[in-house]
Amino acid sequence: MSENEDAITKETIPDGNTRRDAFVKIGVGSLCVACSGAAVFGYDFLSPNVLYEPSPVANAGKIGKFPPDSVTQDAQSGIYIVHAAEGIYAMSAVCTHLGCLTAWKPELGIIACPCHGSKFGRDGVKLEGPAPRPLEWLKASISDEGDLLVDRSAPLSEKQFVRT
Ligand code: FES
Repeated sequence: MSENEDAITKETIPDGNTRRDAFVKIGVGSLCVACSGAAVFGYDFLSPNVLYEPSPVANAGKIGKFPPDSVTQDAQSGIYIVHAAEGIYAMSAVCTHLGCLTAWKPELGIIACPCHGSKFGRDGVKLEGPAPRPLEWLKASISDEGDLLVDRSAPLSEKQFVRT
């Protein structure tokens, strides 16, 4: 190797390192970045691809908090608890037209949908509007602790009351 070539390969950059040192550092840095990316994608690939959803069973609270002849809306759970003469029943508050959340109108004694004007009776029967079906009745039961549990994933095909 000539003296000139040796000078080129050992050419120093301002901080005192050789060009080779600089390339080694760049290579190691690039390798670290690539390994980090591979680790992130590997972790993502190996993680279970699961959608965690809340339980369809809503706890409406103690059965005693629903006075006779009352309609209680639990907007957070999207349900109504109605205490009628026959007993307590639960209904979905989701409109059967396009899925808007309905609201209980105590001054009118009806359940109304704010989206397209469907109206339902307190038993879910459609009174007017574009909704194709009545509101769904939901399976309800009383837990050992006296809480009213409503299974939002279990619509009933016929009316069912929880006796108090
Ligand atoms: S979503 Fe309720 S009337 Fe259309």
